[in-house]
Amino acid sequence: MGQAWGFGRHGGPEVQEFFDRPDPVPGRGEVLIRVDVAGVNPLDHMLRSGLVPGLDGGRPFPRVLGMEAAGTVLARGEDVDGLELGDAVFGFALTGGGTYAETTVLSAPNTARIPAGLSATVAATLPVAGTTAVDALDQLGLPAGATLLVNGVGGGVGLAVARLAAGRGLRVIGTGSSAKREHAETVGVQFIDYAAGDVAAAARELAAGGVDGIADLVGGASLRTVAALARDPRNVVAVGDASVSELGGRFVERRLDRENLERSARLALDGLLAPVITAVHPLADAPAALATVEHGHTSGKVVIKVA
Ligand SMILES: NC(=O)c1ccc[n+]([C@@H]2O[C@H](COP(=O)([O-])OP(=O)(O)OC[C@H]3O[C@@H](n4cnc5c(N)ncnc54)[C@H](OP(=O)(O)O)[C@@H]3O)[C@@H](O)[C@H]2O)c1
Repeated sequence: MGQAWGFGRHGGPEVQEFFDRPDPVPGRGEVLIRVDVAGVNPLDHMLRSGLVPGLDGGRPFPRVLGMEAAGTVLARGEDVDGLELGDAVFGFALTGGGTYAETTVLSAPNTARIPAGLSATVAATLPVAGTTAVDALDQLGLPAGATLLVNGVGGGVGLAVARLAAGRGLRVIGTGSSAKREHAETVGVQFIDYAAGDVAAAARELAAGGVDGIADLVGGASLRTVAALARDPRNVVAVGDASVSELGGRFVERRLDRENLERSARLALDGLLAPVITAVHPLADAPAALATVEHGHTSGKVVIKVA
């Protein structure tokens, strides 16, 4: 039995609640973990609100929030390869365990060992923001020296993309509100405050002939404002707004497998994928942790330290 934080029905923050639940029993291809740290992501409140029904598997209520975590393997289901009892691991709770909890089940093919030298706190941010940054940059495939615009640079994915891109020798321009300037400039970004005026004009001042690629993390009207800055529309990739294809761009294809997790962990160990963790909350403060992200103007990554 352990404490968990989730929701008894779809809705706004008012449907969230703490409850006790028996330790989940790992099914085929799953491991039960004691959660050390859970990452907080926009998808968590979107699932609670019922906005992405295809992703919640029609599970019974109450459901536990959270889809990524780092922790220690307590039990293995059948057909689990490469993960042993007591291993420190990180990965996705794709089958509905929910990670804002003392224990949860992770999907073994989407879980990897935490390499020596990497903290559980950093590892907990890699499944969602870390591998998204890797996938976005891989699929853009820009050469060193190219100019990348990161639209929405101040959040969890944005700062990860910016740091990784700088490490690959790209010149990085990024948009965000003024509160994000310092974090962004620390990772080498030429920063544009989108509230201060015409974003496209500001970008053209920095890159007169346009940019070689755009990683969009905002979508909607903001994506449409910046998309025309790309010299080639195919080099506009988005992770949240599939309508990028209407602009000639591409929705980032996600790789959630163990190999990509292991690669992200190696990049993190090398300092190339360094999430900017701005808030670490205890489980009791999970409501505040998710509220920060739901507000839509998070800086870097927010995590919940459970153990
Ligand atoms: N496809 C996938 O697998 C996948 C994976 C991860 C994330 N996502 C999606 O990617 C998006 C970003 O995720 P995240 O984790 O980075 O979110 P996040 O940590 O909440 O950050 C979002 C950032 O966008 C900034 N922002 C909001 N409006 C903006 C605008 N008009 N121009 C520039 N910046 C703006 C926000 O702060 P300021 O406005 O204060 O600058 C905030 O820093 C979300 O929609 C998420 O659902 C998709």
